[in-house]
This record gives sequence, C-alpha cells and structure tokens, in this order.
Amino acid sequence: EKGNYRHYMQKEIFEQPLVVAQTLQSYVRPFDGKVALPDIDFDLSAVKRITIVACGTSFYAGMVAKYWFEQFARVPVDLDVASEFRYREPVLEPGGLALFISQSGETADTLAALRHARAEGQIIAVVVNVPTSSMAREADLLLPTHAGPEIGVASTKAFTCQLSVLAALAANLARAKGRMSEDEERAVVEHLREAPEAINNALGHDEDIAGIAHLVAPARDVLYLGRGPDYPMALEGALKLKEISYIHAEGYAAGEMKHGPIALIDDLVPVIVIAPSGPLFEKTVSNMQEVRARGGKIILISDAKGLADAGEGCMATIEMPEVHPLIAPLVYAVPVQLLAYHVAVAKGTDVDQPRNLAKSVTVE
Ligand code: F6R
Repeated sequence: EKGNYRHYMQKEIFEQPLVVAQTLQSYVRPFDGKVALPDIDFDLSAVKRITIVACGTSFYAGMVAKYWFEQFARVPVDLDVASEFRYREPVLEPGGLALFISQSGETADTLAALRHARAEGQIIAVVVNVPTSSMAREADLLLPTHAGPEIGVASTKAFTCQLSVLAALAANLARAKGRMSEDEERAVVEHLREAPEAINNALGHDEDIAGIAHLVAPARDVLYLGRGPDYPMALEGALKLKEISYIHAEGYAAGEMKHGPIALIDDLVPVIVIAPSGPLFEKTVSNMQEVRARGGKIILISDAKGLADAGEGCMATIEMPEVHPLIAPLVYAVPVQLLAYHVAVAKGTDVDQPRNLAKSVTVE
C-alpha cells in the first residue's frame, strides 16, 4: 500500500534509509564489523577477472561497482549491457566470475546472458531483489538485496540496495586478494553504516528539489554530468528523467563534454552536475565552468564544501551531506530520483506506470 504517499515511486524513494540498512545488515557481521558474504564454495582470491552484465538501472549499479572492484581489489572488470553481451561473442576464461545484477531476476536478456556465461564455464554470482526468481535459482553465489517488493516501474530502492551489496562484495574481494587490511575493511564497513543516515539527510531536501523541478520541467533536453563513480550516476539521472518525465536527457562523463556535446549548450538546456567534494571535484567543476562560459544553466549537486567553492553563478544548487566518496553514489541517487519524480509530477505524467514501459522485461 502507498500509505501517505502519492505514488509508489515516492514511497520507495523514502524507504531507502530502511532498506539499505536492512540490506547492509545481512552483509556485515555485528560482532567484528567485517563484511560477510553468504557461504560460498569457491575461493574469491582466485578470481582473475569479473564480467558484469545487467540492463538499465541495474547496469548502472554494475558500472559503479566496476570502479570499486578495480580500485579496491585491483581485479579487472569487463562490463556490458545484457543485450550486447549475449551476441558479441565475449572472450571468457574458464573459472572467471560473471556477475549479474537484476531487481526482478527475470529480465530476459540478463537471464540469457547468465546461461551463456554458465555454458562458458563462468562462476555465476547474482545480485537480485526477488529471491524466488529465475536468476536467484540459477546462481552459484546468491547475493540478495533486501529492498522488499518494488512496485513503481522506475527502479529506485532496488538500485541503492544493489550498490550496498556491491560495495560489500568489493571489500570482501579486496580482503581475499590481500589488497585491503582488516582495519581498512572495518573503515569501509563504518562508511557503509553511515549510508542510511546520509540518505535520510538527502531526503530532507525533498522540498528544495520539488522547487527546482519547476526549472527543469519546461526543458526539452537536459544534460547530466559526472566523473568517476558519479558518471554512472549521471547516466542514471538521465534515465530516470527520460522514463518518467519524457524529457530527453543524456548522461555524460564530465570530461567528455568538450569532445562534442558542449555544442548543444545554450540557455535552454539545464545541465545538472553531480560533484561531491573529493578527489575528482576540481576536475568536474572545471568542466562545469566550460559549460557555464557558454551560457549553460547549471544545477550543481554537491555538499556544503563543494557548493561554497563552486556554487556561485549556478541556476540552482542541491546540498547533500558531506560523505565518504565510497557512499556518495548511494546518497546522490536520492536527489537524482527526487528530481525526476518531481519533474514528472509537475508535468502530470503517470509516475508509477510510464508509457511503453514494463516493470519486468521478460521478452528480448
Ligand atoms: C529503470 C528501470 C529499468 C530496469 C531494467 C532492468 O528505472 O527500471 O531500466 O532497471 O529493466 O531490470 P531488472 O533490474 O529487473 O533486471
């Protein structure tokens, strides 16, 4: 039931502090603050390469995870959308780990990709929200998200729960590979445990975001920019906006702007920049200034520190709590979801049942 909420999507966005905490609880051991995965009968330290396959929002969770697996565990990651992976004859070394990410566990292309990977001798790991789904049944390593049923067609809480599981997996893999000390692992766990509260703080900006949505609603095109793990967040922001508000939106790696898309910039195209303060902040902001110099109207999503450094001259700003870079994607998912939600409400579209879309895509 929707309770006091107007839409399932809104309810599910606001459930995130709870369901992320629930999900993390099953991956963190309370007695020693270490990451624990469900029992597995293979040696994670032997994994030489990871192939991540998914569709849509689940694919973007995988894209964030690629940064984490490579950065923390130094394991090379290959990443593809399922519809491409299936048909491109990927080269898979026997014994590699293939990781599939899906809310429903029934997406036709992802399931077919899973079976292809199995036939090629891969170990099958699955991050899935529906524990009775086909993908859950076919996994060697089942990593459930505990988001609860997701009714809104646009995926929200399943995404942040996927990120939670993937961060835990990255830490576990890094430990298994000898790339992370026990203390570092505990620090990662500490940061993850701060996520529900930080997400809650982000949700506190709902009203500001509803106000800013009125600046975005009249636009025909919107650009989202981010760098590093915030690049997939830009892609996710654009996808959310497209699917429920029907505004054409594109996500771009901030540094890629000058290779073409900057030609699109004028004062009719809002440019939303995702830039938490941290190691990539300066770089992203310099790309943002290039956009502004061409008359672009910027909405900057950052923390107090980032906004103090770069907020001036923006059309609007959205303030997030200051968080460790590891959990930034979990926190910055919130404004991106809320903005799409409020733009859709402002435009009067059917938020929970957008045209032409199905919750579970069981045909190719
Ligand atoms: C976007 C969305 C879709 C799904 C995609 C994969 O909001 O809902 O892009 O993420 O269809 O679905 P699952 O995760 O069920 O495999």
